Amino acid sequence: MKESMTLLKQTMTLHAERVEKALAAYTQAPDEDLQILFDAEEYSLLAGGKRIRPFLVNEVCRMLGGNESASMPFACALEMIHTYSLIHDDLPCMDDDDLRRGKPTNHKKFGYANALLAGDALLTKAFFVASSNPNVDRATAAEAVLLLSEAAGEIGMIGGQIMDLAGEHKKLSLEQLHRLHSMKTGALIRVAVQLGALAAGFDRDSDEMRSAVAYAEKIGLCFQVIDDILDATGSEEELGKSVGGDAEHEKTTFLSYYSVEGAKEYAALLTAEAISAISPMKDSEVLTDLAVYLLERTY
Ligand code: IPE
Ligand code: IPE
Ligand code: MG
Ligand code: MG
Ligand code: MG
Repeated sequence: MKESMTLLKQTMTLHAERVEKALAAYTQAPDEDLQILFDAEEYSLLAGGKRIRPFLVNEVCRMLGGNESASMPFACALEMIHTYSLIHDDLPCMDDDDLRRGKPTNHKKFGYANALLAGDALLTKAFFVASSNPNVDRATAAEAVLLLSEAAGEIGMIGGQIMDLAGEHKKLSLEQLHRLHSMKTGALIRVAVQLGALAAGFDRDSDEMRSAVAYAEKIGLCFQVIDDILDATGSEEELGKSVGGDAEHEKTTFLSYYSVEGAKEYAALLTAEAISAISPMKDSEVLTDLAVYLLERTY
C-alpha cells in the first residue's frame, strides 16, 4: 500500500476517535424515563461506521486554516443526520435490512417504534447541535442550519430516498439515476465540505467553497456507485451491513446500466475529476488521498 494511504488511514482512525468522543457527549439520558430512547440513539451512533462525512467537515476546515473546535459540532450534527438516515433506511417499510455497522439493525434490537423515534430524535438533535455551535458566530451557525436542512430534506437526502423507492420494480432513466444518487448520497457529502468551509470562515460565494463543492459532487456520486457495486459483490462480514438487497428489491442502481467493470471505470473517472477539482487548492493532499481511498474501498 502507498505510504500516503497508510498515513490517511491512521489520520482517519485518530479522527474517528475524536468524533466518537464528541458524539458520546450527546447520548447521555437526562433521566430513567428517557433511557431507552438515548440507548437506541447511542446504539447506532456509536456502532462504528467509517465517519467519512465528519472527516470531510473537519478536514476541509483544517485545510482552509480553520480550527477543529469550530467544525466539530457541525461534523457531529451531520453524522447524526447520516445515522438517522441509516436507521430509517433499514426499516422494513424501506430496505428491510437486519445488519448495520456490524450489528443487528436498530429496529431488530429496539423494535420499530423505538427505532423510528431514535431516528427522529437524532435528526432533531442535529439541528440543535449545529445551531448552538459555541465556536462560530451566530450568522455562521444559522447558515450551517440552512445548508443542512436543504441537504437533509426534500431537495436532498429525503428526495433521493423517495426516488430510490420509485426505482424499485420500475427502471429509472440514467438521468434520473444520477439525480437520485446526487440527492440520496451526494447531498450529505456536499454539505460536509460546505460546513467545513463555513467553519473556517468561507461563505457560499467563495472560490474555496466552490472548489470544495466541485470535489464533493464527484466523490459523492462515486461513493454511491461503489456502494451499488459492493451491494452486489461485497461481503456482509467485511461491510458490516446486509448485501444483495438492491437486486432483491429490483432497485435501479448503477449496475442496471453498467457492468461491474464499467461501473468501476466510471467511478475511477469521477475520482480523477474530483482530484483535479481540488488540486489547485493549497494543502489538499489529504482530500486527494481520501478520493482514492473511497474509490478503492471494499467496505
Ligand atoms: C452508507 O453510508 C449509506 C450510503 C449513503 C451509501 P456509509 O458507507 O458512509 O456508512 P457508514 O457510516 O460507514 O456506516
Ligand atoms: C442509503 O442508500 C442512503 C441513505 C440516505 C441512507 P442505500 O440504501 O444504498 O444504503 P445502504 O446500502 O443500505 O447502506
Ligand atoms: Mg436505501
Ligand atoms: Mg439501504
Ligand atoms: Mg446500498
